[in-house]
Amino acid sequence: MAIAFVEGWDLVQTLGEGAYGEVRLAVNRATKEAVAVKIIDVRRVAATAGPETVRKEICINSMLTHSNVVRFFGTRRDADIHYIFLEYCSGGELFDRIEPDVGMPEFDAQKFFRQLLAGVEYLHSLGITHRDIKPENLLLDENDKLKISDFGLATVFRHNGRERRLSRTCGTLPYVAPELLQPDPTFRAAPVDVWACGVVLTAMLAGELPWDQPAMSCMEFVDWRQRRLHVTPWRKIDSLPLALLRKVLEPDAEKRATIPEIRQNSWFNHTLKRGGVRRESGESGLGSKRICSGIDLSPGSLASDERVRYSVSQPEPRLTHPSPSQPTGSSINALLGGLSFSQPLHPDHMLLSSQLQSTPGSSQNPWLRLVKRMTRFFVRGAAEEVRSRLSEVCEGHGLSYRQTCPTQVTLSTLDRRNNKLIFKVTFLEMDGRLLLDFRLSKGDGLEFKRHFLKLKGHLYDIVSKPTPTSTPTSPTPTSPTLTSP
Ligand code: ADE
Repeated sequence: MAIAFVEGWDLVQTLGEGAYGEVRLAVNRATKEAVAVKIIDVRRVAATAGPETVRKEICINSMLTHSNVVRFFGTRRDADIHYIFLEYCSGGELFDRIEPDVGMPEFDAQKFFRQLLAGVEYLHSLGITHRDIKPENLLLDENDKLKISDFGLATVFRHNGRERRLSRTCGTLPYVAPELLQPDPTFRAAPVDVWACGVVLTAMLAGELPWDQPAMSCMEFVDWRQRRLHVTPWRKIDSLPLALLRKVLEPDAEKRATIPEIRQNSWFNHTLKRGGVRRESGESGLGSKRICSGIDLSPGSLASDERVRYSVSQPEPRLTHPSPSQPTGSSINALLGGLSFSQPLHPDHMLLSSQLQSTPGSSQNPWLRLVKRMTRFFVRGAAEEVRSRLSEVCEGHGLSYRQTCPTQVTLSTLDRRNNKLIFKVTFLEMDGRLLLDFRLSKGDGLEFKRHFLKLKGHLYDIVSKPTPTSTPTSPTPTSPTLTSP
């Protein structure tokens, strides 16, 4: 049973969590319209970031209308809880499309990069900088169109034609530009977002982040500065996109490519073939010419191997459910507290039930399956046996395993860069089978994906292959139920 939120709307599952609170999917029972609801506990934000933060996020959101930016529908407040209603992106996060250590087909990387740049260019045209561009904040809609999301750190850098330099260092270390890490920095905003787009492009083309942080204490960054391009991740990237990356990841912000310059770049404008796969440039030995994906595909090259590895986390086949649709004016008005909901939300109608706080994917209806997340798989066996197998595998891999609620375990470790990585596994019984749903709580998305694939590999003997029954085509599939391990 889904939780009633506002009359006629159900909150059916958690889409994401953060320090502020969480994002839930709300679905209109009658029309099946879907919206994402960011639920912010104002007291929690006030204690950490200051009370102005939410107002600023809402204000910036309300200025934005672009096809590559998550659409903002409006907001409502009930006591200390702020609700921000946003376009629902059913394609999940961009990082779910990145195969660790491989990346994604160059055709897709180029398509997503173009869309990312269009969104960032639009923000900059309004004088807004996002300040936390990374694959986790880039969502995909049902047509795989990229949408920039989460304006919690965004700020205005140009007003009435006057640009101001910034000095606040914020963002996520592997994506921040080197000028932010200088002592007492003041820097221009736009080149910092451009730099982050370059790191995202690297992650898409190579399946790894180039460095922990762009500082001289970080060997990988020093290598990049010294143009040592035969090392990973650069050796995996073809010459044309690599030439662009050299201009985008230019340590000197003044010399860094601007968005109009990127638009002139030959790889950016190059027509790639869909389905073309990349070959690792260094693969054919010393002196090998870097090649361009989609153009030169030699059979038997690493490309075919990459294709196999990439398929490990390909999305499951598309569902033929009636898709959730974006809301119309009248239904969103109701959500925002228009005529039919002029009275304050009754606490019983709110979805802050502690029962659901930490149970992602706990919706009891088919919406769960419409979110194209790939960090989940079905297993064979009783919950108790699966739990003990998972616990054994975790122990063997230095992952600490803690049961945090009857249906959920929390796994934590240090990643290969010694950063904390925490993720949760929820056990769901669906159609008589057991689904293990993995979700990142803290840390780097690519590292999470690496661990997910490793664990899945070690459980290979009980993992069941996706079958048509795991992606039902009937309009009313059996509801999933939470299962205690
Ligand atoms: N996670 C965070 N925001 C989201 C949105 N707007 N749609 C889908 N998932 C999300």
